[in-house]
Amino acid sequence: MKVSLMNVQRQHEMYAAEYEQAAINVLRSGGYIGGAEVSAFEEEFASYQGAKYGISCGNGTDAIVLALRALGIGAGDEVITVAWTFFATAESIAAVGATPVFVDVYPDTYCMDPNLVEAAITEKTKAVIPVHFYGQSCDMDRLRSICREHHLYLVADCAQATGTKYKGERKNILGDVSCFSFFPTKNLGCDGDGGMVLTDDEDVARACRALKVHGSGKDGLWTMRREYALQNRQVPDNMPKGDTKYYNYLIGYNSRLDAIQAAILRKKLLHIDEFIAGRRKNAELYNKALEACDVITPFEDPNGEHSYYIYALKHPDAARIMNVLTENGVATGTYYPVPLHLQGAFAHLGYREGNLPVTEDLSKTTFVLPVFPELYDEEREYIIRVVKEALNG
Ligand SMILES: Cc1ncc(COP(=O)(O)O)c(C=O)c1O
Repeated sequence: MKVSLMNVQRQHEMYAAEYEQAAINVLRSGGYIGGAEVSAFEEEFASYQGAKYGISCGNGTDAIVLALRALGIGAGDEVITVAWTFFATAESIAAVGATPVFVDVYPDTYCMDPNLVEAAITEKTKAVIPVHFYGQSCDMDRLRSICREHHLYLVADCAQATGTKYKGERKNILGDVSCFSFFPTKNLGCDGDGGMVLTDDEDVARACRALKVHGSGKDGLWTMRREYALQNRQVPDNMPKGDTKYYNYLIGYNSRLDAIQAAILRKKLLHIDEFIAGRRKNAELYNKALEACDVITPFEDPNGEHSYYIYALKHPDAARIMNVLTENGVATGTYYPVPLHLQGAFAHLGYREGNLPVTEDLSKTTFVLPVFPELYDEEREYIIRVVKEALNG
């Protein structure tokens, strides 16, 4: 038997008529950029997650970049984040000219350890970006209170956490600004790339709307005025002013969610609770089957409700077990094999092996199993059998 780690085709087959009709409607409408589908999805997704404003964009990486830019974060600023995440989290910080400062994660939840955040704060720190890793919520109460006390923005990287709850509600995983990815394999994935910024702050929402379309139009001028005012500068009187997209007030981006993707996402959003329940069911069955085995199954923070974007096991012999899984046709891997503080792209920051011991240990001892909701029972049972054989071998 061969089992892939993620299988987006299977979900498509289940709902093909619905998803394809949504795409066809857009194709026939001729409205491919922006429009009713995009605005409707922004509203529906924001409401699902419990935020006031949703600003769609090209992908989850852009969502973080837009969020940081909208908060005025840039050169000379520091942003505290984790190294146990996908590259994009810290890449976005660097992309706006700021410096990522890495802290370690809790050894059980694999999410940012708030105890280490305070020690990392300097006068240059402007924001903290926790990552709800694998779909597990961070310790949001602690992080929120640290950010409030130190006047820092809390930017939540929710790329892996659509549908995750903290203290019973989805909105409790959100920060001042929150960033989502709709990469195809995500809990809510589109048929291409897509992302969204969520916030309750109208100013930030407006800035994101301007920045994603080359800093143009009414929102661009309004955001330029806001940025200048924050810097105690005067907007020049004599510059050309207009409300159309050909008047540019900020150096922004071209980052849009296509109407086709929005239309498909609207259909998928109708089934999201079923997708999350499927992931949770698979995780629970793995946990039960492996509870007596010599392997660490995922810890679920009792304050949260994990959405299991990824299901990872921990074992000192992870490399050997991954080989056995691969030999038996079960896709696996380490998410992620190189912690960000040791990535070549961040070599100039001067981190060394030993700086983040929990993260480094996890990168050597964890491996993932397929947990996507459409996994067949026979596949899950086969995977359990192979894992058990590997553990005994
Ligand atoms: C934690 C995290 N942050 C950010 C991103 C970036 O999202 P995207 O691939 O949509 O740019 C991802 C996605 O892969 C992610 O897993």
